[in-house]
Amino acid sequence: MLNERRSIPDFLYGTAWKEARTPLLTELAIRMGFRGIDTANQRRHYFEAGVGQGLEAAYAEGVVARPDLFLQTKFTYQDGQDHRLPYDPEASLTVQVGQSLSSSLEHLGTDYVDSFVLHGPSSAFGWSNADGEVWEAMCKERRDGRTRFLGVSNVSIRHLEQMMAAHAEAPTFVQNRCFASLRWDSDLRSFCEKRKIIYQGFSLLTANVEVLHDTRLIDLAARSGATPAQVVFAFARSIGMLPLTGTSSAEHMKQDLASRDLALAPEAVRAIESLIG
Ligand SMILES: NC(=O)c1ccc[n+]([C@@H]2O[C@H](COP(=O)([O-])OP(=O)(O)OC[C@H]3O[C@@H](n4cnc5c(N)ncnc54)[C@H](OP(=O)(O)O)[C@@H]3O)[C@@H](O)[C@H]2O)c1
Repeated sequence: MLNERRSIPDFLYGTAWKEARTPLLTELAIRMGFRGIDTANQRRHYFEAGVGQGLEAAYAEGVVARPDLFLQTKFTYQDGQDHRLPYDPEASLTVQVGQSLSSSLEHLGTDYVDSFVLHGPSSAFGWSNADGEVWEAMCKERRDGRTRFLGVSNVSIRHLEQMMAAHAEAPTFVQNRCFASLRWDSDLRSFCEKRKIIYQGFSLLTANVEVLHDTRLIDLAARSGATPAQVVFAFARSIGMLPLTGTSSAEHMKQDLASRDLALAPEAVRAIESLIG
């Protein structure tokens, strides 16, 4: 399993809130060099079938083939959905997980995803029986080969502790909104690091606008010949995070990918770690 992790890319392109532009932006992101695509079977915020159309266009033009890509999607409880559900709400959660993943595979034109993520637990306060049923159903999907890895999103340490006490299988990924004001989610990140769970950070820019406007970060970016956004992505990677970007701009896609070549000095990393937005 650890060897298989080599195929996990170092940047994910996020497809939320792109609506009709989803196919073109997905194709563009792949053309620009992204190999990891994050989506969800939650029509309210994502147009997953549009991601599939973008993939289809990239395959048809010979830009990439399916094995070159890392495709991640999510199962979302009915509470997080609008009326456009990818499952029968009357069915058991086990059945809903299977129906949601089948629908994702159809949307994405594939017979497996690389990562299948529980979008969020059913309660903010702890891991519930419902989450337990969903997780066991997700584990079965992994054993059946319909996903390579599993993840959970929008979780606290409490959720993870309870989850890991209740189940034999731990997640490979945790995907959380990463706030500089929580020292970039440092407690949860170190919990994950100790257990070899890969932390995916989202909304690194939108959740940290104050940091992007902080003169110390702006000065550091200028000295590094980079933009503040590039510094944030390079920083995220230096502290072991797998970052997501949600850009819709070709220029920003290029800049975000170029942040992989930006090496920050340890003092710079420490300085950014202590910027609390
Ligand atoms: N698990 C969950 O519950 C959850 C929740 C939210 C999001 N997500 C995932 O995370 C992805 C990213 O989320 P997000 O959109 O909030 O992230 P984000 O990348 O922090 O925010 C995107 C914003 O940053 C700007 N941006 C990106 N690169 C830039 C650059 N180099 N310079 C300046 N501005 C830049 C974009 O503007 P331009 O478009 O103009 O570049 C856009 O306004 C989503 O698409 C989704 O896949 C997951």
